[in-house]
Amino acid sequence: MNDTTASRSSVLDEALAEATARYGARNPASERALAEAADVLPAGNTRSVLFHAPFPLAMARGEGCHLWDVDGHRYLDTLGEFTAGIYGHSNPVIQQAIVSALHDGLSLSSHTLREGPLAHEIQRRFPGMALLRFTNSGTEANLMALAAATVHTGRRKVLVFDGAYHGGVLSFGGGGSPVNVPHDFLVARYNDLEAAQTLVRTHGADLAAILVEPMLGAGGCIPGQPAFLHGLRALADECGALLILDEVMTSRLSSGGRQAQLDLAPDLTTLGKYFGGGLSFGAFGGRADVMSRFDPRRPDALAHAGTFNNNTLTMAAGLAGLTQVLTPAALDALNQRGEQLREGLNAVFAQHAVNLQFTGLGSVMQLHATARPLRSAADLAGADDRVKALLFFDLLERGVFLARRGLVALSLPFGDAQADEFVAALEAVVAARRGLLPTVG
Ligand SMILES: Cc1ncc(COP(=O)(O)O)c(C=O)c1O
Repeated sequence: MNDTTASRSSVLDEALAEATARYGARNPASERALAEAADVLPAGNTRSVLFHAPFPLAMARGEGCHLWDVDGHRYLDTLGEFTAGIYGHSNPVIQQAIVSALHDGLSLSSHTLREGPLAHEIQRRFPGMALLRFTNSGTEANLMALAAATVHTGRRKVLVFDGAYHGGVLSFGGGGSPVNVPHDFLVARYNDLEAAQTLVRTHGADLAAILVEPMLGAGGCIPGQPAFLHGLRALADECGALLILDEVMTSRLSSGGRQAQLDLAPDLTTLGKYFGGGLSFGAFGGRADVMSRFDPRRPDALAHAGTFNNNTLTMAAGLAGLTQVLTPAALDALNQRGEQLREGLNAVFAQHAVNLQFTGLGSVMQLHATARPLRSAADLAGADDRVKALLFFDLLERGVFLARRGLVALSLPFGDAQADEFVAALEAVVAARRGLLPTVG
């Protein structure tokens, strides 16, 4: 580290400490809420992704694409519940669907008239899901897809990718997680077809599945290159493994998901997030010969239980959302707005000659404290997280809410005026902090 870099680094530390202190002082009710909950929840937290130092905000309510925290601050919500909140906080169609399902009674202990139509609507959009089943989360959907693949192939190994996130117990960032389920995982570099080929050449006969996100989502909104994803399709065919495409995040990139955009045909697809209209949801499905093992009429049927797999509120909200709100045209317009927003945000960085970028596809994007082209999680090494922390606190202070890690996912009520507001806030923050940000050259 030379003298200039070292001095910028210590000024950055000071600025971050000061911004963090200001954040603490502005949010006493959030701090108190977390502290009180900490008696019974570790650090007051029951959802790891939400935690950040010194404490995360507690929100009191939401409306459209705005949030109000418990200290009364109003925010433009650019996070959209980590992609699940595509309808915004108060879509009247979703609200009405939930209210009328409530009137029909909760927890009916039975099949209802809702799950069939919702499954049909999903299949219409994802025709490769010849048969599908519902779960309560994307994590469960991936667990069930992997279970189906291991049973179908009679094999144990699963190829996944460094930096991938398929759920709380299927997390492959930073070398994997000790709470991961004990499948026999092989981990390759994302967007590195040769690395995958090498592993498949050695382990192909034991490989049950290749599980991949078409874009690393939690891993930084790093798009999978079409040739890489199609190459995985060919590798799975070669060795008889199933290709499982995790579209929990990317399904919103078009009405047929990323697979429709890339003309990619997985054996199984997993879904989650917004398909439940903003309520807990997951689904897995695909080839009829694989999924028909879950047909309970079969003597060798696989069990897939779940008290809330067809819970009435989720089924109602999900169906109303897909049939009345999230038309292909609405989704395309949202993704178009996302593309334009990302261009606008990146133009701010270019104009100030700072080495920052938003990566992503359509309406889903992520801030990075590096301008290097990103192809895999390894390319993020060395990016200074303090820079992201500083921008995060500064944007909050200007009324813009995003994930601490930098994720942005637009919701339908987020219009052009909100995009302009976000770009203007970023512009002000970058202009004010330019001396502390990594610069070009
Ligand atoms: C690609 C991907 N797969 C799976 C999951 C897990 O979904 P859930 O949080 O509903 O369990 C997520 C959640 O962020 C995700 O982004």
